Order: sequence, then structure tokens, then C-alpha cells
Amino acid sequence: MSKIKAAITAVGSYAPEYKLTNAILETMVDTNDEWIQSRTGIKERRILQDKDKGTSFLAIKSAQDLLESKNVDPATIDLVVVATVTPDMPVASTAAYVATQIGAVNAFSFDLMAACSGFLYAMSLAASYIESGRYKKVLIIGADKMSSILDYTDRSTCIIFGDGAGAVLFEPSSNEYGFEDQILKSDGIGREFLKIDAGGSILPPSHQTIDDKLHYVFQDGKTVFKYAVSNMASVAEEIVIRNGLTNEDVDWLVPHQANKRIIDATAKRVNLPEEKVMMNIERYGNTTSATLPLLLKEYEPKLKKGDKLVFAAFGGGFTWGSILLTWAYDN
Ligand code: UT7
Repeated sequence: MSKIKAAITAVGSYAPEYKLTNAILETMVDTNDEWIQSRTGIKERRILQDKDKGTSFLAIKSAQDLLESKNVDPATIDLVVVATVTPDMPVASTAAYVATQIGAVNAFSFDLMAACSGFLYAMSLAASYIESGRYKKVLIIGADKMSSILDYTDRSTCIIFGDGAGAVLFEPSSNEYGFEDQILKSDGIGREFLKIDAGGSILPPSHQTIDDKLHYVFQDGKTVFKYAVSNMASVAEEIVIRNGLTNEDVDWLVPHQANKRIIDATAKRVNLPEEKVMMNIERYGNTTSATLPLLLKEYEPKLKKGDKLVFAAFGGGFTWGSILLTWAYDN
């Protein structure tokens, strides 16, 4: 019997309407459009302004976009995974709520947390479940309401992140195309450089943690940048080489959107021209778990059956990795 291959068969996305531009940020913190664009490539990011809506709202919208685009019956979905660092609540699973709301009544569900590599890890998980033959429809969603954990008086973090969500459906491949290979890594040395100090089991919430602003994202940008550039480029290069590919064989680089300079460095290492690199950081900033599926939805009309895609991501933890996948359908 030939091995079951896992293919992406549908994509969806959602970004809130409100655009937080660099010009608006200039009125909030000591920054300027020129600095932000030259250091990060970002022009604007989307923000979910509705105070009583959480990450599940973004996730549900992106899943509904996927279901409608390919007329998928949600009752046929076996598993829903939500990759996020901003769950609706610390304890109740966001994925369970999302699955119920979209009508995935026969699915089980759980959240996955691997910071900016969350969606990449979720892809690996989904593909493994399909390849094992255990499940036939796995829906993975990357969703983050980063605005809920940002200090909008801290110019070193608030200019980078935005809110958004994207969804991908994995199914057994009906042709020879689909998930090919993965390199996934992590190193706990990174936790000092990108973190939220309080609210977990080490430092539970208290008046003091609030006064000290310890519930917001902290990032040592320079250090994270250094690790991100070298590690994201290394795994992308390794996966290309070990699969016997050259830069000519790779059709698309699908890189996590953290900083245009990191994306450019990764593209350079695998020797890919700009037109083969998916990029939308200028319009969304870093949406953490949502960057990869937001890219897929945007570039879906350009993707052709048989295209070779190299995904690469790096994030808090540290976590990072690369996935090689052959696109399985023409739009
Ligand atoms: O997705 C998860 C992984 N995360 C990443 O991959 C992010 C990696 N890091 C980065 O992308 C970059 O380090 C940042 C975009 C966060 C910062 O860029 P940088 O080129 O590393 O700047 P820096 O932190 O070294 O700061 C350079 C200067 C400093 O001023 P002095 O000390 O040279 O006078 C900062 O105070 O820029 C200043 N600065 C700003 N100026 C204007 C820092 N933030 C801002 C700002 N506007 N928003």
C-alpha cells in the first residue's frame, strides 16, 4: 500500500478592518514612519478594536472564510487546532469554542502554543495525523490578537505586531502532491529574550505585576533578530539541500513575517529572487501565529499544482523550523 500523503486543500483568512498606520503610531510613541519602514518593512497593521472580542472571533472568521471558499461541511472535520499565544482565556480551550461555533460538531480540538512557529508546528501535526490514516480532515488555524498583550507606550514592541487569523485544511492527497519534509527545532535559551513575565505559574497576576507592566510582551529585539536571521535561514537552506533541490526548483518561500530584513536574509541564503518570496508584512506587521496562513490566502490565486513551497519561521522560546510542501491544487 502506498503511503498516505497530506495535502492542503483549502485556505481562509481574516484581518480586522481598523488600520493602525505608522502615522498614527507617531502620535502615540516617540517613533517615525521612516524608522519603522527601514528597520522592519511595516507600514500598517490591523487591530481588533472591539474590546469584548478575543482571538476566537478572528479564528472563527478565518475558518468560515475557508469553509465557504470550498463549500466544506464543518461536520466532516475530525480535528481543529488553534495555534495562538493569545487564547481567549488562560484555561478554557479557544479551539473547543471555535470548533463549536463553526459547526465542527464531530471534531475534537485543542490549542497549540509555540509562539511565532505555532502555525508551522501545527502544519506538521496536521500532516502527521493525516499520514497516519487516523483522520481525514484536520483544520488548523493560526490566530492572534497581539494588541491584547502589547504596551502601546513601548515603541520597541507596539510598532511590530498586529492582529489577524488564517486557516488551512489538511486532507489525504488525491494526487502525489502534499507535505514533503520538515525540520523543527527549539531551544529554551531563548525564553529570556522574548516573553511575557507574569500571568503564568512562575509569577501569577498581582497588583504588583500590573503596576510593573509585566503582562505585556517584552522583547530584546537585537538578540532575537540575531538568532532569527541565522536560524531561519539555516533550516530553509537545509531543507532545500537535503531534498535535492536547487533554487530553480523552489517556487515560493513562505517566511514568517517578523521583519523584512529577516525575510530578505532568508531569501538570500536560499538564493531566491524577490518575486518568489511571499510578503505582506507592510500591511499586517507581525501577526505571530497568523502570518503563514495570511500569506497562503493572499497568494492562493498565484499558486499552481506542483509548486514547491518552503515555509520558514522563528519565534519565542526559541522555536523555529522549515517545511517543504508541494501545492496540490490549481485555484
Ligand atoms: O516574530 C518573533 C521573532 N521576532 C523577531 O524576529 C524580531 C527580531 N527583532 C527585530 O525585528 C528588530 O530587532 C526590531 C525591529 C525589534 C528593532 O530593530 P533594531 O534595528 O534591532 O533596533 P534596535 O533595537 O537596535 O534599536 C536601534 C535604535 C535605538 O536607539 P539608539 O540606542 O541607537 O539611540 C532604539 O532606541 O532605534 C531606537 N528605536 C526606535 N526608534 C524609533 C527602537 N525602537 C524604535 C522605534 N522608533 N519604534
